[in-house]
Amino acid sequence: MTETTRTAPRTPATGAGLALLGGPRAVPRDSPGGTWPIITPADEQAVLRVLRSGRLNAASAGETEVAGLEEAWALATGTRHCVAVASGTAALHLALRGLGIGPGDEVIVPALTMNATAHAVYAAGATPVFADIEPDTYTLDPRAAAPVAGPRTAALLPVHLHGLPADMPALGRLAGRLDIPVVEDAAQAHGAELDGRRAGALGTAGCFSLHPSKNLPTCGEGGLITTDDDDLYEQLVRLRNFGELVPTGARSYVAHRAALNARIAPMAAAFTGSQLSRFDDDARRREPGIRGFLDRLAGLPGLRVPGIPAGRTHAWHILRLMPEPEELGLGPEHRAGLRATLHRVLRAEGVPVSQYQVAPLPAHPAFRPAGLSEPAALEQVAERFPVTAAVVDGSLCLQRRHLDPAAGPLLRRYADGFEKVWQHLDLIRRMTLSRPAPGWREVLRRG
Ligand SMILES: Cc1ncc(COP(=O)(O)O)c(C=O)c1O
Repeated sequence: MTETTRTAPRTPATGAGLALLGGPRAVPRDSPGGTWPIITPADEQAVLRVLRSGRLNAASAGETEVAGLEEAWALATGTRHCVAVASGTAALHLALRGLGIGPGDEVIVPALTMNATAHAVYAAGATPVFADIEPDTYTLDPRAAAPVAGPRTAALLPVHLHGLPADMPALGRLAGRLDIPVVEDAAQAHGAELDGRRAGALGTAGCFSLHPSKNLPTCGEGGLITTDDDDLYEQLVRLRNFGELVPTGARSYVAHRAALNARIAPMAAAFTGSQLSRFDDDARRREPGIRGFLDRLAGLPGLRVPGIPAGRTHAWHILRLMPEPEELGLGPEHRAGLRATLHRVLRAEGVPVSQYQVAPLPAHPAFRPAGLSEPAALEQVAERFPVTAAVVDGSLCLQRRHLDPAAGPLLRRYADGFEKVWQHLDLIRRMTLSRPAPGWREVLRRG
């Protein structure tokens, strides 16, 4: 983790030169790079191949694109099976149902994640029980998960948020004591590793999203489930297709389980298969630019960059940056204000920072405990999930553009932008103090 003893330097108070005040942008408007996903002629050909074949859905006789992608992703993750489905959310939903999780069961979910993680638990008929995240990795804290586990806990659902595997050894030990499976939400973590094994091979089942923004994208919607468990595989194949058995000849249309249609489209599978052929190469090519960018930001006082615990690798799906108000001479009550100020000033410089998740998930109206007033519910969330609350209020993210393997020069411009803004910390402090920003509670109240 990034340790820092740096102190905020004295800086010019006027802000002269900042783009927000009329100076030149650190990142010129026409700066090249930063496109994601990149669509090559080979990707287009893959989609055309399906269109021209006439096999337009996965139930078409002779369809091979879906099976091809499944085989390739099982190989890439080092798992026995892969089942391609309609989305990352469907992957989570089916993995839970395939493991027999349903009404009356509880599933432990981190308080910081995309809302799909909790929706999938509800869709399976179970109840998400939230636990706080670790401050350094932004992933489910095993020490927070243990106390909320109980007799109804039927699975752990850690999220490898932003591309960093969660602490799977500790979570695996907890699951082992409870005799329950661990389902990985690896929607953001294609290719990330822990102790030499890839995300998707770290639990009982691994669930990936192929959303176009993801490191492994598709040209629509899609998801992948990986597992070594033969029985689970059989269930998943049924659950994605109306509960029907895999046809050996003609389709029977006999439903063996209640289930929806969660099939992926062959065009989506073909596109992803084409992307997959350069996936490792893209990851290798983007690494130096991202490392160089984060190294420069790590040199700025009061700015925490993502750390990688020993034994893990990071897929860098999202880069989360955490300004530390106390290190910049501000009280912790100015966390949201500091983030909002930096957001304005950096965006004016052409650095496209954004907020990823605006409130802890358990505070969203859909996931609040029933029977509590809104103020009481939000107070409870603030008490139970302090790390998540601080992270959503205080941090900024870079998304998507850095995934372009050729984004190195663009990332150098972004680092120039950060360094320029950090020359004006006195002004940043004054702006923060003069313009309070709404924290997550206020954002939720405004709806
Ligand atoms: C952590 C996480 N889980 C689940 C999902 C859901 O995936 P999809 O959008 O493919 O349904 C996403 C998508 O952004 C995600 O980031």
